[in-house]
Amino acid sequence: MDIEAVQSSYSRWAPIYDRTFGAVTNMGRRRAVEYINRRGGSVLEVGVGTGLSLEHYGPQIQVTGIDFSQDMLDKAIAKVQRLELKQVHELRQMDARSLDFPDNHFDTVTAMHVLSVVPEPEQVMAEIARVCKPGGKVVITNHFARERGAMAAVERIFAPLANTIGWHSDFHIERVLGQESLKLEERRTLPPLGMMTFLVLGKAAG
Ligand SMILES: C[S@@+](CC[C@H](N)C(=O)[O-])C[C@H]1O[C@@H](n2cnc3c(N)ncnc32)[C@H](O)[C@@H]1O
Repeated sequence: MDIEAVQSSYSRWAPIYDRTFGAVTNMGRRRAVEYINRRGGSVLEVGVGTGLSLEHYGPQIQVTGIDFSQDMLDKAIAKVQRLELKQVHELRQMDARSLDFPDNHFDTVTAMHVLSVVPEPEQVMAEIARVCKPGGKVVITNHFARERGAMAAVERIFAPLANTIGWHSDFHIERVLGQESLKLEERRTLPPLGMMTFLVLGKAAG
């Protein structure tokens, strides 16, 4: 997707997101937040969207969230205010391709259902790797393309519609695994139907 399409597509999604795509992708967010809660410390949530994950972080976590879409971010800001979420330190409008944070800054960086949406996912992964502390973790949930079968055919049919529907249906996992400083530590397929994959990547210490 190009960045103008992200803007317009998520402006349309924002009012209905929590009741539609957001409602059927809870498992991936819950799994990621459970993992992060066990670690503690600071977390950057890249593409925080309407903030569906935010109320699930424990008080031991300091959350920073960024998103390119101000319409999605406004929903997240409203949730933080309504639910008085003290663990959320900052929500900012920002392009994930150029993160305005220092190197080696966060204990954990997470991207949930984002990497098949962003333009230049390899550049976003390079930025994620840069701002993650040595010894830190990168936690990802996403749908990745299947290699064969009926679903793979469906994914290829919808692929040209990315700018309209708001994500790439045939996004390949190799595009997030290419960072030299990040090693794959965990890979699990999530219910229901195995549509989403949970990944943990570790950044080498020192
Ligand atoms: C499918 S939503 C996922 C939102 C949230 N993580 C969740 O799980 O509900 C994808 C989000 O990625 C954001 N996004 C897309 N490209 C971006 C970019 N370059 N920088 C920051 N956010 C971006 C969109 O605005 C949208 O909020």
